Amino acid sequence: MAAEIIRRGGLVVFPTETVYGLGADACNPIAVARIFEVKRRPAIDPLIIHVADAESARTYGEIPDKWAPALMRKFWPGPLTLVVRKRSTVPSIVTAGLDTVAIRVPAHPVAQSLIRASGTAIAAPSANPFGYVSPTMAEHIHGELFDQIDLLLDGGACGVGLESTIVSLIGPSPLILRAGGITGEEIAQVLETGSLPISAKSHALPQAPGQLARHYATRTPLEIVPDDDRGAFLCAGDKVGLLTLKSPSRPERFASVEVLSETGNLREAAANLFAALRRLDALGLDRIIASPIPEKGLGIAIMDRLHRCAARHA
Ligand code: TXA
Ligand code: MG
Repeated sequence: MAAEIIRRGGLVVFPTETVYGLGADACNPIAVARIFEVKRRPAIDPLIIHVADAESARTYGEIPDKWAPALMRKFWPGPLTLVVRKRSTVPSIVTAGLDTVAIRVPAHPVAQSLIRASGTAIAAPSANPFGYVSPTMAEHIHGELFDQIDLLLDGGACGVGLESTIVSLIGPSPLILRAGGITGEEIAQVLETGSLPISAKSHALPQAPGQLARHYATRTPLEIVPDDDRGAFLCAGDKVGLLTLKSPSRPERFASVEVLSETGNLREAAANLFAALRRLDALGLDRIIASPIPEKGLGIAIMDRLHRCAARHA
């Protein structure tokens, strides 16, 4: 039934290993236009297309002989998106008029079977209103986009919890456009390069609007505050929530505390991040304070999301 809806130009929210996607047939420009409408997403912000395997990726993009084969072999299916030259099979609404296309092969079994049964590529942004926190559970869709979609496939909580890492293969060397579920170190290791450049954090005219300085934002103001400075940020009478990697020393000072991983495991923290932000955001707090997380491995992508959330309120 879900595949039938896609084939008929409908919208299906489906689970991937990263976050839930708001999917439509990538080859149907009218269906894709509905994605932009429902998300209230600016038309200048291109979408990722989801295909079942590396072979199908070649139908939609010109896969370069350099770098791509090694990356696809190692990370597909999985949370890596590659930006390559597009083919004419991809309508320009998907790529916002760019001559490049972002392609990924999701690992989630529900996403895989949806794509295969639909027999097309599925264009899908994260299934949240533009600028808000991405959904990592089916419940997150309710009260947001639910009324405007044709079907919601519930696949439980997303295992990775952060969006895919986006790597552009367009320039003279690979460039990370968005930090995500696969770390720069893992990618550099496969490419046998020292380290991989990450594109500057925000752009006026971004190559990837996921790079927009203000994104992934809670409605409640959020600030990143080092643990030692916390006291100065707590005013009497203010209801403050704390988002932290490990248990804090004086939890009673906060109206609510979200611990991302008791053991400090960054994978677990990434998987919990968006649901924790959404829980805090639902409490009607005056402010959310986030403790900085070590910027190593997945910590880079986690801090990237927190910085963008904080920028919204700066
Ligand atoms: O994990 C993910 O990537 C999730 C799941 C659903 O697959 N999708 C996702 O989509 O995060 P979205 O639309 O929220 O973010 C896609 C990002 C945007 O920042 C967009 O600008 C960038 O990908 N993008 C898409 N096509 C691009 C292109 N041709 N060149 C550069 N950036 C591109
Ligand atoms: Mg998004």
